[in-house]
Amino acid sequence: MKKFTFYYLVFTFFFFISSINAQTKSNDIDEKYRPQIHFTPEKNWVNDPNGMVYYKGKYHLFFQHSPNSSVWSDISWGHATSNDLVHWERKPIAIYPDSLGLIFSGSAVVDKYNTSGLGKNGIIPLVAMYTSHDMKKEKAGVIDVESQSIAYSLDEGETWIKYQSNPVLKNPGVRDFRDPKIIWHEQTKNWVASIAAHDQISFYASSDLKNWEKLSDFGKTVGSHDGVWECPDLFPIQYEGKTFWVLIVNINPGGPNGGSATQYFVGDFNGKEFKCDYKQVKWMDYGPDEYAGVTWSNTGNRKLFIGWMSNWEYANIVPTEKFRNAFTLPRELGLKKINEEYYITSTPVPELKKMEKKSIVINNLTINGSSDLTDKIGKMEVPSKFNLVLSNKSDFSIELVNTLNEKVVVGYSKDKNQFFLDRRNAGKTDFQKNFGRMNYAPRLSSSDEISLSIYLDLASIEVFADNGLSVLTSVLFPNEKFSKINFITSEKLLLKNFTYTPLNSIW
Ligand code: FRU
Repeated sequence: MKKFTFYYLVFTFFFFISSINAQTKSNDIDEKYRPQIHFTPEKNWVNDPNGMVYYKGKYHLFFQHSPNSSVWSDISWGHATSNDLVHWERKPIAIYPDSLGLIFSGSAVVDKYNTSGLGKNGIIPLVAMYTSHDMKKEKAGVIDVESQSIAYSLDEGETWIKYQSNPVLKNPGVRDFRDPKIIWHEQTKNWVASIAAHDQISFYASSDLKNWEKLSDFGKTVGSHDGVWECPDLFPIQYEGKTFWVLIVNINPGGPNGGSATQYFVGDFNGKEFKCDYKQVKWMDYGPDEYAGVTWSNTGNRKLFIGWMSNWEYANIVPTEKFRNAFTLPRELGLKKINEEYYITSTPVPELKKMEKKSIVINNLTINGSSDLTDKIGKMEVPSKFNLVLSNKSDFSIELVNTLNEKVVVGYSKDKNQFFLDRRNAGKTDFQKNFGRMNYAPRLSSSDEISLSIYLDLASIEVFADNGLSVLTSVLFPNEKFSKINFITSEKLLLKNFTYTPLNSIW
């Protein structure tokens, strides 16, 4: 080949590739409500995160996805991977519907010892268990609509093969029987699946991921029962040198601020039964828009969690264009004891620091009344992060405002000892009657100092108070970007620290 032709071809090839890149980039950036620091597929509907597994340096995120529609319909498992939980690579659909039904939520594990026998030539299989949801049966009004199936991957999660003898776990006579989350239980050397069964969790055991035997049920008399239980997750977590077991149970409706939400129980699991000293319902996130959240498998003692950033009350009608709904920031879970009770803490994973541009730090600012903090930071960008440390001695609110005077307000009420998030005037709200409401979260920490970490994206806000003890996640649809930050207090208050950090887009 002539030298010129060779260079011409190389140039044309790179020009072609970079224009494709530029195209995807600009599509992602130009769309008004397209999240800049949260994963979304290029187009169409998403709900629950599924099958999250860490393998060979890659975090896999599968998710409920309608590949051909911007509303819930032809539910398949979409797929994305990341090396750092920050930047995501969009992948082809992993699992499509079949004669057994739609591919509902589930989990995936690394079958290191090939207990399933699905591994070949020394290749470790990844095994996913999901719910097959038969729409024909649903329409016929019969009970056994949902059963559990498996699929496996022999190429590190890239492609999935359905097991030929699906379903592996037939419906036991419960209409809502779904969302299996599998763990390896070391003491009993068994796989344990937690499955939502109407408004309880059923535990099943298996030595090979194909034959399952029922262990026990949990939850009849504890927790919130104002909706159907979905997407459970059972896992051990270390705290002060001891092992505790956490059972996450998503519930819809019945959340603390309406609609869908994530409750949890802290107790013990002996390989057969989950037990806990139940006093009151505990919520992982009090905001309206964290649902179906569960953890990654195969991450050792690190418990990494991600939720769907929406709510079944309005998920199908939120005013976005190409895509509909996103995921929360990935969060790291911990435990904290307060007044003899154990609570989960959830904080954004430290990997997210990669998105940070240069911070502006302001220390010891006394505020009496109202202060425009935009003056102090120069210019406010979206996406960005705001960290604040202040005393709990008075009411305060932080207003993020745009030039149309739309605002989202995050604050604290001393009398009620609770945080709030007000999106009543934060832009578009009229697509659903409950959307524009106030949201409250109790303050659990008893410390004299309140710390807040707030992540603002083009169409969402996530508030982590007291190192993740009280969390509020909310989507927002402002008609213009927020550009101003006001701090308002009812009496003189010392803002010990205010750190403003603009963030780079992950795309
Ligand atoms: C939770 C859920 C799951 C189900 C999936 C269907 O949001 O209802 O229980 O598997 O969504 O898409």
